[in-house]
Amino acid sequence: MTVTPFNALACPLDGQVLTLDGRALRCPSGHNFDIAKQGHVNLLPVQQKRSADPGDSKAMVAARQRFLSAGYYQPVADAVSAATLEDAPEGEPLACLDAGCGEGYYLRHLAGASNAPLSLMGLDISKWAVLAAARQSRPPSPPLGIRWAVGSNASLPVRSATLDRLLCMFGFPVVSEFQRALKPGGVWLQVEAGPEHLRELRDIIYPRLKAPRAEDADTPAGFTLASTQRVNDRATLRSAEEISDLLAMTPHLYRATAEGRERALALTSLSLSIDVVIKRWVKVG
Ligand SMILES: C[S@@+](CC[C@H](N)C(=O)[O-])C[C@H]1O[C@@H](n2cnc3c(N)ncnc32)[C@H](O)[C@@H]1O
Ligand SMILES: [Zn+2]
Repeated sequence: MTVTPFNALACPLDGQVLTLDGRALRCPSGHNFDIAKQGHVNLLPVQQKRSADPGDSKAMVAARQRFLSAGYYQPVADAVSAATLEDAPEGEPLACLDAGCGEGYYLRHLAGASNAPLSLMGLDISKWAVLAAARQSRPPSPPLGIRWAVGSNASLPVRSATLDRLLCMFGFPVVSEFQRALKPGGVWLQVEAGPEHLRELRDIIYPRLKAPRAEDADTPAGFTLASTQRVNDRATLRSAEEISDLLAMTPHLYRATAEGRERALALTSLSLSIDVVIKRWVKVG
């Protein structure tokens, strides 16, 4: 695998080109963004912050990192990597952004899955997520050439029409920004929970299961649907810690009733359905 950091960056303050200058990224107007010693960069100006510590908390990020490292979602990672690499144009490295990358599990997996050159960036609004991602792709872990940045999907610090692929997994899509950042013919991979996903956990924490969300039939402006794929598997969690980590990394922790949470946290094993939907949206024009 040859992985290089994605470099077509835009200043989050004025959209001008950012260039690497020593250990910082700079725009022609002199806006300056230092690269931290762990290798990541903060491209989220205070003006774009809606709170002091936006996105997932340190505890949620740590729980997700522990849970994902156990490998239960590997079938999802395999399918997402394959869908990302499908129909990759030859020649130039495939430029791919993971928008809302969390602690970087899926991008690390993609880096290991490709023989072709890749140019990669992971972006998340949570500084804890980006720090965890940067730490896991530096020595003593094998160094990976992935760029990690704090930033928002609402205003991607990426130049227009520079991405071949954009991943948004269990995240917060901003269609107009995704459309702007992708090249014509580029692909947005929208990865979301299917109706059966973690059904057994939801059965325990909610007094009555909500009706499945109505399928969003609308096509996002500027895209056409190339394919929809479903990943179905089973996982058996074998400790209270794993169940607690899974609960902490999903929105269910906040939505569950207190009794529901207690019921789940009293368990020491849980067999679960994994049901994930991958949509490949191609940018038109
Ligand atoms: C459910 S987690 C999924 C993380 C990762 N994609 C995964 O599947 O492991 C959602 C992530 O989106 C991030 N997030 C929330 N709002 C965001 C925004 N406006 N821009 C970028 N990331 C955001 C959170 O900090 C969190 O890491
Ligand atoms: Zn600038």
